Amino acid sequence: MNKVKGLKSKDLLGLKDLSVEEIKLILETARSMKEIMARPIPKVPTLIGKHIVTLFYEPSTRTRTSFNTAAKILSANITNVQMSTSSVVKGESLIDTIKNLEVMGLDCIVIRHSMGGAPHLAAKNCKAAVINAGDGFNEHPTQGLLDIFTMIEKKKTVKGKKVVIVGDIAHSRVARSNIWGLKKLGAEVVVVGPPTLMPKGIEEMGVRVSYKLDEEIGDADFINMLRVQRERMEKGLLPSIEEYSELYGLNSDRMKKAKKDVVVMHPGPINRGVEITSEVADGPFNVILEQVTNGVAVRTAILFLLLSGKES
Ligand code: CP
Repeated sequence: MNKVKGLKSKDLLGLKDLSVEEIKLILETARSMKEIMARPIPKVPTLIGKHIVTLFYEPSTRTRTSFNTAAKILSANITNVQMSTSSVVKGESLIDTIKNLEVMGLDCIVIRHSMGGAPHLAAKNCKAAVINAGDGFNEHPTQGLLDIFTMIEKKKTVKGKKVVIVGDIAHSRVARSNIWGLKKLGAEVVVVGPPTLMPKGIEEMGVRVSYKLDEEIGDADFINMLRVQRERMEKGLLPSIEEYSELYGLNSDRMKKAKKDVVVMHPGPINRGVEITSEVADGPFNVILEQVTNGVAVRTAILFLLLSGKES
């Protein structure tokens, strides 16, 4: 138990593992962090002397940069391991990499990996805090938290709100983290996508499955569009980009069916003209760049909660 701030684990591996109280604590702390971000000098000395490393086996713009920004807000040191020039290319294993980084005196490892469970493996093999920045198709907890933070900013609560998550549900760690968190906080979640991209048994997570976006838009409070992963096309899971956009893309015509105060979200990166048109992505209902700003607040909160008050 991190006695100082109330997170049970030394790590942040997924929303599946967090209690409602822990999710609320992170969201409340993120609100304070957003206030610090608005100051003329957005910096506090809280994590002076702490050292964070990012270890991204997959590309990232938003997540990695926002962890860097978050570390700097809290005055922590941060090192980014560049995979292409690291000893990973010589075949060094994940566990060996983690153990070698840890003995350099690190307090926290932020890891993104194509294999589901890789951050959990890392967490078991080191004393440092491990933060999951996205693992395979499993979870992307900081994205889930920043999405929920943004929803609450917009509509005060997610309890009883209808959240429609659209796209490649089967391969989306963003969808899974959203579902775990939103269901714990009392939202109604509907997942929409082609049958080939809908995982069997997803209803067991407490969501409703729909294959018809047009039938779900009308009473939605939030529409969260997922990135189409083009590699799925190559594997024959989608007929064509054009057909996907026709059935599941968010465009101005579809938006005419939506409520006047609907909130349109996307985790990024966007495939403009595929899952969402530019008109909608840049239009009056979107909060996509606000999500990115909130990502800094949420990640600052997580670093604070995991690392403050702990001995290095
Ligand atoms: N949403 C998200 O995870 O973006 P990045 O891949 O750029 O980090």
